[in-house]
Amino acid sequence: MRMRKKKHGSERIAACSHLLIADPTVLRDDPQSPFPAARPLCLEIGCGKGGFAIGTAAAEPEYNLIALERISDVMVTALESAVAAADSRPDNLRFLIGNAQNLGEWLPPHCLERIYLNFSDPWPKKGYAKRRLTYRGFLELYATLLAPGGEIRFKTDNVGLFDFTLEEAEATGWTLSRLTRDLHASEWAEGNIMTEYERNFSSQGVPINAVTLTPPAQKED
Ligand SMILES: C[S@@+](CC[C@H](N)C(=O)[O-])C[C@H]1O[C@@H](n2cnc3c(N)ncnc32)[C@H](O)[C@@H]1O
Repeated sequence: MRMRKKKHGSERIAACSHLLIADPTVLRDDPQSPFPAARPLCLEIGCGKGGFAIGTAAAEPEYNLIALERISDVMVTALESAVAAADSRPDNLRFLIGNAQNLGEWLPPHCLERIYLNFSDPWPKKGYAKRRLTYRGFLELYATLLAPGGEIRFKTDNVGLFDFTLEEAEATGWTLSRLTRDLHASEWAEGNIMTEYERNFSSQGVPINAVTLTPPAQKED
């Protein structure tokens, strides 16, 4: 996501610090510690401006949700939107600025019920396949973080990234379900919470691809 440098970015983030996980290493001992109440935990990777995370946290008060974004200027928008929406939602959403590749250092094994990957950067050049958030190295990492019965919910406009994801998942033993190449016309359209990118692409008539991925059976720890 390209974004002009935000004015007073660090001050604006500091003003929302009650929603920010400033030190992700606290999660390792207790991933529920940033929340007032322990609930099954979900993670959105690459939350962008935060619309999906804010909508999902409000729609699913029985879960806690961490929204991860690596670009702090993008996170300013997400945090400020969450603060603006805070009165109308349960206190079950926290934001984390950082890179998904470090998740294994921050989170204990098998702590997540669900991982959301929404409109992840496609990295279309062949040489950049390892950067795609559904590359098999990332899938391996996510499998170590998902609780038994946990799943990834993936959505994208990008057919190349979608096909790549299906290939990576199948090649590494994940189970595919709720697969559609036109989410908004599918049986799963109801209750679908749109992201900023999704709203933009679907307003241009681009169909949205979606799939749920369940990891291969976990070995006993
Ligand atoms: C194409 S945007 C989509 C934003 C949002 N999910 C949406 O659908 O509107 C992808 C977002 O993922 C973030 N991102 C990409 N790679 C990431 C990573 N390794 N860790 C955390 N965030 C990442 C980018 O900074 C960007 O904001």
